[in-house]
Amino acid sequence: MIEVEEVTFKYEGSGINALRDVSLELERGKIYGIVGPNGSGKSTLLRLLNGLIPHFYRGEMKGRVLVDGVDTREASVAQLSKKVGLVFQNPEHMFFSETVYEEVSFGPKSIGMDPEEIRESVKWALEEVGLWELRERSPWSLSGGEMKRLSIACVLSMKPEFLAVDEPTIGQDSLSKESLLEIFKRMKGEGKGVVIVTHDLEWLDDLGPDLVFVLRYGVVIGGGDPRKIFSDIRNLATNGLIPPYRYIVDSLLEVG
Ligand SMILES: Nc1ncnc2c1ncn2[C@@H]1O[C@H](COP(=O)(O)OP(=O)(O)OP(=O)(O)O)[C@@H](O)[C@H]1O
Ligand SMILES: [Mg+2]
Repeated sequence: MIEVEEVTFKYEGSGINALRDVSLELERGKIYGIVGPNGSGKSTLLRLLNGLIPHFYRGEMKGRVLVDGVDTREASVAQLSKKVGLVFQNPEHMFFSETVYEEVSFGPKSIGMDPEEIRESVKWALEEVGLWELRERSPWSLSGGEMKRLSIACVLSMKPEFLAVDEPTIGQDSLSKESLLEIFKRMKGEGKGVVIVTHDLEWLDDLGPDLVFVLRYGVVIGGGDPRKIFSDIRNLATNGLIPPYRYIVDSLLEVG
């Protein structure tokens, strides 16, 4: 389980808190959605889960994050990344290998998997995201949507118990969005915890999250059953979010 306990975080040099008094619990075998307007602290919240905050990002942090009871301050990012895999919002800036295959091998090597296990998990991860056929290509030669799926494979190959993905559907066509749904549902079925940050509520509704949190100005202003969150269309719209279509229709029918 991941426990975020009353965390307040301010980036160095920034005048405002990116997160304010945030508390939440994330369990295995569940899918969580995190939504909110630009700059509300969603990516910052994900950076807490695998220890990038406070280990890599400078700033002031109050409160604590526990991953299976271990304070993230007391563990290294390498140790934490065996448990919590994080796919960044713009991961394509970070590719450095000559081939797709090598790029996906890097994580498993760095956490000390044995060679046989690496081969098996890299193949599995590339097949999961539909990129096995492109394994000899340069990461830089991929399309934007393929790059996003490559970055997901890079994290899947480390076999994390929690997967946190920042904006998975950006630039994805409808078939890829469909296959991402299947990947994340399968991970939940295997008992993994899945945390998704997205502005795409229509897709999130299809994913069927167990719980959705709404962030605004670094504060969790709502959290609960997705049906409750999605049907509050006024609140979503005020926060720059488009409610899933079926909730809009329901609300129009109610008014009528
Ligand atoms: N590395 C950084 N250094 C300083 N301030 C940062 C840094 N990253 C984010 N911030 C600030 O922290 C606040 C929260 O940003 P964050 O990236 O978490 O928002 P977000 O909800 O992910 O937004 P978006 O939907 O645009 O991705 C913003 O005010 C942002 O400007
Ligand atoms: Mg973000």
